[in-house]
Amino acid sequence: MIVVDELVVEYVTQTGEHVRAVDGVSFTLHPGEKVGLIGPNGCGKTTLARCLNALILPSSGRVEVDGIDTRDETRRLELRQRVGMVFQNPDNQLVAATVEREIAFGLENLGVPWEQMQRLVDEALRQFDLERYRKHPPHLLSGGEKQRLALAAVSAMRPHYLILDEPTSLLDPVSREEIVESVLRFAASAADPGREHNPPGVVLITQFPEEVLALDRVLVMHRGRLIADDSPKGIFSRVDRLREIGLEPPVEFLAEAIWREGPSVHD
Ligand SMILES: Nc1ncnc2c1ncn2[C@@H]1O[C@H](COP(=O)(O)OP(=O)(O)OP(=O)(O)O)[C@@H](O)[C@H]1O
Ligand SMILES: [Mg+2]
Repeated sequence: MIVVDELVVEYVTQTGEHVRAVDGVSFTLHPGEKVGLIGPNGCGKTTLARCLNALILPSSGRVEVDGIDTRDETRRLELRQRVGMVFQNPDNQLVAATVEREIAFGLENLGVPWEQMQRLVDEALRQFDLERYRKHPPHLLSGGEKQRLALAAVSAMRPHYLILDEPTSLLDPVSREEIVESVLRFAASAADPGREHNPPGVVLITQFPEEVLALDRVLVMHRGRLIADDSPKGIFSRVDRLREIGLEPPVEFLAEAIWREGPSVHD
């Protein structure tokens, strides 16, 4: 379980000004739970995400992952194995000469034995639909394929939690859908009977509300605070509140809201 308790993160700018990027956020993420995190630009989503694997430490409050406090330097490696991160731009994350080497890279660092590594690489290539690119250099892949590769490489390490910070924002609509589908498929396949690992918890940060519809819960941030934590339906049925902070619900919900008001037969 991830526990975020009264988390505050303050940045000090070059001019010495204090910016409170995260301002007293508390929530828990249970193993296997899939959560969306939305909110306007600059509301603190990336800062919060980076706190989950100790890339940023709390100014005050606490972040704990399966009982490991992110401040505990002695368990940092273990923490980073548990919490896999994928960022907006896969180019910053891809380092190897071929697609299969890219997936193997993290596993080698973990000291995974060769045979098991081959099996995990094959499985990741299959799960993220990259088998045909096995020997290709990553930089020749399309944006969507690169992002699937970044996901495959992180997922192969079997993290307990996958934190995805706007993994789709640079992609076209079709690739965006593929990314979200492949994450959900990976998480579901991990739950298949006979698998040796449990489905990962997922935190998906996105500026596209329709991408969180299939998730278990949605967190909404505004000016460093968590202002809502509810089911997608609960979040998006409050159209006015979303619009107040500059967010648009997915069109499905607008259609539903209009329908509930009924046709204006009076005039
Ligand atoms: N290194 C930094 N130094 C000073 N201020 C920062 C730093 N990083 C982020 N901030 C500020 O902290 C706030 C939160 O930034 P953050 O990147 O977490 O927001 P975000 O919700 O991820 O935004 P976006 O949707 O644009 O990705 C913003 O006001 C930002 O300007
Ligand atoms: Mg961000």
